[in-house]
Amino acid sequence: MSLPYDRVFNFSAGPCTLPVPVLEQARDDLLNYQGKGMSVMEMSHRSKAFESIIQTAEADLRALMAIPDNYKVLFLQGGASLQFSMIPMCFLPSGQAADYIVTGTWGKKAVEAAQLVGGVTVVFDGKATNYDHAPRPSQLSYSEKPAYVHFTSNETIQGVDFNKDPLNVPAPVICDMSSNILSRPVEVTKYSVIYAGAQKNMGPAGLTVVILRDDMIEKVPKKMHPMLDYRLQAENASLYNTPPCWSIYVCGLVFQWLKDLGGLEAMEAINEKKAGFLYDTIDAHEGFYRGHAAKGSRSKMNVTWTLPTEELTEMFLKGAKAEGMEELKGHRSVGGLRASIYNAFPVEGCEALAAYMKAFVAKHG
Ligand SMILES: Cc1ncc(COP(=O)(O)O)c(C=O)c1O
Repeated sequence: MSLPYDRVFNFSAGPCTLPVPVLEQARDDLLNYQGKGMSVMEMSHRSKAFESIIQTAEADLRALMAIPDNYKVLFLQGGASLQFSMIPMCFLPSGQAADYIVTGTWGKKAVEAAQLVGGVTVVFDGKATNYDHAPRPSQLSYSEKPAYVHFTSNETIQGVDFNKDPLNVPAPVICDMSSNILSRPVEVTKYSVIYAGAQKNMGPAGLTVVILRDDMIEKVPKKMHPMLDYRLQAENASLYNTPPCWSIYVCGLVFQWLKDLGGLEAMEAINEKKAGFLYDTIDAHEGFYRGHAAKGSRSKMNVTWTLPTEELTEMFLKGAKAEGMEELKGHRSVGGLRASIYNAFPVEGCEALAAYMKAFVAKHG
C-alpha cells in the first residue's frame, strides 16, 4: 500500500507521526502565514498575529480538556525532563517529602531529579516485575503528609498505563502525561499539575505544556530562578522569554484537528480500536507473541510485546520495514517490539501491522 507523499507507517515513540492535514496546513502557511508576508518562524512573539496563535491554542486546549478557569495553561520549554526538576524545586519544601509512584523508566527519572532537591518516598515501584503494571488504587498507601503525589499516567517505554484518573489521593496530584495527553478525556480537577512534552500527541518537540491549579502557584518559593518559576511564567502568559513559537503554532493546528474530529471522546474510541487490532493479535497467538504489560495496564499509545527469540525479532523488524512499517524496535529495557500508535497514527497502520503479525506467525510460529 502506498501512502500519500510516500510516507511510511511511522511507529516512533516520539517525536512521532503528525496528522497529514496539519502538516499540509503548516506547509501551506510556511512562507506566508495568513497574508502576513512571513512565516510563523519569522514572526515576533510579541506580534498581534502570534498573540492570536498562542491564545487560540490555549483556548482550544482548554476546550478539549475542559480545563476549569482556576487552572493556568503554560507553554514552556525544557521538555518533560525539566519538569522533573521544576516540580520539586517549586513544590517540595525543605523538611517535607513527596510521594512518587514508579511504573517505569520515566517515573524513575522523575524520582532521581526530585531526590536532588529534597525528600522522596517511593510508594510503589514496579521493578520486581520489570514494570509490567500500574498499581490499583487499593494497593497504594501514601505517606502521612506528602507535599504531593507524582505519577506517570502512561509509561512510554514499558507501555504501562493507569487507564484511569487517580482516586482518593490525600495530597496534590502531579502527573506526567507526556505520552497519553489528549488520548482520552481526563477529569482535570483530579489533578493539581499536569505536564507533557508536546512531541507525542500535540506537535513538534520544543514545547512543554503545563496545566496547573492556581493554588499551586501560591506554593512557589518567592526567590525562584526566573525560568523555573511557574508564578513568573503565569504572570507573563508564557511570554517571559521567547517561547517555542513554531511548536506552539503546530500544536494549535493539532488541537484544531482534534476538535474537528469530535474531541477526546471520539479520539478515545479511535485509539481503542487501533490498540485493539494489536492486542487482539497478541492474545490470539499467546505462545508466540507475549505482551509486556499486564492486561489491565495496557497502554493504548505504546503497545509492547516480545517474540520467542532475538533472531525472530530481527526478522520481524526487517520484514515490517520492507512493508513500510518503521520504528518498531522495542526499548532495550523491555526488548522485543514497541508500536507507538499515538492519536495521529492512522487506523490503517494498525490493521496493516496486525495483518503482518498474523502472516509472520503463520510462517514462523
Ligand atoms: C512519559 C515521559 N515522560 C518524560 C519524557 C521526557 O520528555 P522530554 O524528552 O520532553 O524531556 C518522555 C519522553 O519520551 C516520556 O515519554
